[in-house]
Amino acid sequence: MTAAEARDTQRTPVVPELVHTRAELARARMALTGTVGVVMTMGALHEGHETLLRAARERADHVIVTIFVNPLQFGPNEDFDRYPRTLDADLELCRRAGADLVFAPTAADMYPDGEPTVRVEPGQLGEDLEGLSRPGFFHGVLTVVLKLLQLTRPDLAFFGEKDYQQLTLVRRMCRDLDVPVEVVGVPTAREPDGLARSSRNRYLSAGEREVALRLSRALRAGVEAAEAGRDAGAVLTAAHACFGAGEPGARLDYLVLTDSDLAPGPVRGPARLLVAAWVGGTRLIDNAPVRLDPTR
Ligand code: PAF
Repeated sequence: MTAAEARDTQRTPVVPELVHTRAELARARMALTGTVGVVMTMGALHEGHETLLRAARERADHVIVTIFVNPLQFGPNEDFDRYPRTLDADLELCRRAGADLVFAPTAADMYPDGEPTVRVEPGQLGEDLEGLSRPGFFHGVLTVVLKLLQLTRPDLAFFGEKDYQQLTLVRRMCRDLDVPVEVVGVPTAREPDGLARSSRNRYLSAGEREVALRLSRALRAGVEAAEAGRDAGAVLTAAHACFGAGEPGARLDYLVLTDSDLAPGPVRGPARLLVAAWVGGTRLIDNAPVRLDPTR
């Protein structure tokens, strides 16, 4: 048992303080001493978020969770209105995972002057992959992340590797704009059958959930091909086979193998395999680290 686990078993989870306005947050934040970690979410918390919260608990003396369905990162035809809002259940998960403070602002609290006219520009990486299918998505994400970092003033900010492009861009933003926070990536939490945990999984019917497994299977096929010493082309071919003509039900958006910083150019050594696909009306993403033979 690690020291942090021993500490946690002795610690009776208390109900985290819930604040809604930036004034309430500022007052509650001032009372936190020692290191502070933040986990930013859009609510509808699941075991994937719990993994993030527990990772934050391991590293920080206090954990702040933000819950805000950010309108800025949804396109006009996306699921902003139907995005699940489950505050009571979210608070229970925050309590179980040992959060100290939950900040759940309204849109008026976050954007008192309406939609901001100045936004964070993610650069070329924000236009690729997710950015191609979701124009303006990363402008919205990085803008709210920067605002939440300013409001919560954490030492550490935890983001899931499940949204790998988001994690990469948040790291880049903090480096490029000198934001004084350590960005910590947390490996993706999965269901026992491999499906990456996601708030959007609840949209899937039983049949669609079965089809959705194709994303994690494609990643596994790619990882296994790399472990067998195959080159980048063969890794991609192995992954693509899971979305072949005889495998209907999922519409592939992208399946790519890139450098682990998502930088353009040849892929050698540590790399990332990323996939996005539509399953019925639900768009799912997943990714996995892949180690290619650096000599090939
Ligand atoms: O990953 C998410 O849930 C969101 O993009 C985030 C980081 C909370 C910003 O709204």
